Amino acid sequence: MSKPRILVTRRWPQSVEKRMAESFDVDLNLADKPLTLAEIREAMGRYDAILPTVTDRLPSMVFEGPAPRTKILANYGVGFAHIDTDAAKDRGITVTNTPDVLSECTADIAMTLMLMVARRAGEGERELRDGKWSGWRPTHMIGTRVSGATLGIIGFGRIGQAMAQRAHHGFGMKILVQNRSAVPAEILARYNAVQVPTIDELLPQCDFVSLHCPGGTANRHLINGRRLDLMRPDAFLINTARGEVVDEHALAQALWFGTIGGAGLDVFEREPHIPQELMDADNLVMLPHLGSASRETREAMGLRVLDNLTDFFGGRAPRDRVA
Ligand code: DGY
Repeated sequence: MSKPRILVTRRWPQSVEKRMAESFDVDLNLADKPLTLAEIREAMGRYDAILPTVTDRLPSMVFEGPAPRTKILANYGVGFAHIDTDAAKDRGITVTNTPDVLSECTADIAMTLMLMVARRAGEGERELRDGKWSGWRPTHMIGTRVSGATLGIIGFGRIGQAMAQRAHHGFGMKILVQNRSAVPAEILARYNAVQVPTIDELLPQCDFVSLHCPGGTANRHLINGRRLDLMRPDAFLINTARGEVVDEHALAQALWFGTIGGAGLDVFEREPHIPQELMDADNLVMLPHLGSASRETREAMGLRVLDNLTDFFGGRAPRDRVA
């Protein structure tokens, strides 16, 4: 029997591409350029599986037209808001993602941003590299203490909990949680965390707020101008979730007018475009979507996709089915 035909939309770690090619008839995107909507739509007619990632957009229009050959979209990444899962379901296409394996690394990056912005590490490095550092002095580049402060976590799934683990057990932080559903008492107890009913109630109580909820239309601009106004004037916002969760223009205003202390962003509304008003904000630390970017994690993500495909084409239910 011939092997299923697979399209991998971006370059992956070499070891995983090699493993993938042993089991499937694989086409790689050697140029590593994001595919256009038309290319993805066309691929639906030629491949049994497409392996998209966060830089691919699969709105309902790519599922329109003749019956697709594609039976599974095995996403490389935990977030799948870039795929219209209802439209996929309507065409009988299974969708999977790669949870668990990137939780620790994403929480590490959220922690990195929190420490960098609070202790002004980005500003400090810029000053030093620009040759502007005149030496130690008691009043130089004074930041905010992270240890012992209050952290609000919005979205208390795997990544939110990994963040709580670091912040509470590593930095002695008090943890407040906002989550759509009730978090079991034994999970809250692990971090001595308290669940707060609404985001509006959480924000004014926090020194730091870290976002760990899904993206997509439901959470678009969850953090808007009104909610930024609810934050303390010296509090910091950290986003490693999805760019659309924060209204970037409202955030820029809050940073420029000092209605919050600062922010750390790993994700943006229109990646890789960064608005100039964010570029120019000194109390903002930005990273180019590095949450899962460790060798170990990117390999684990690829192997998780391979597991999902192997199960699917072996007639078993893939463990990470989301639609
Ligand atoms: C994800 O997994 O959704 C990340 O944003 C990319 O690793």
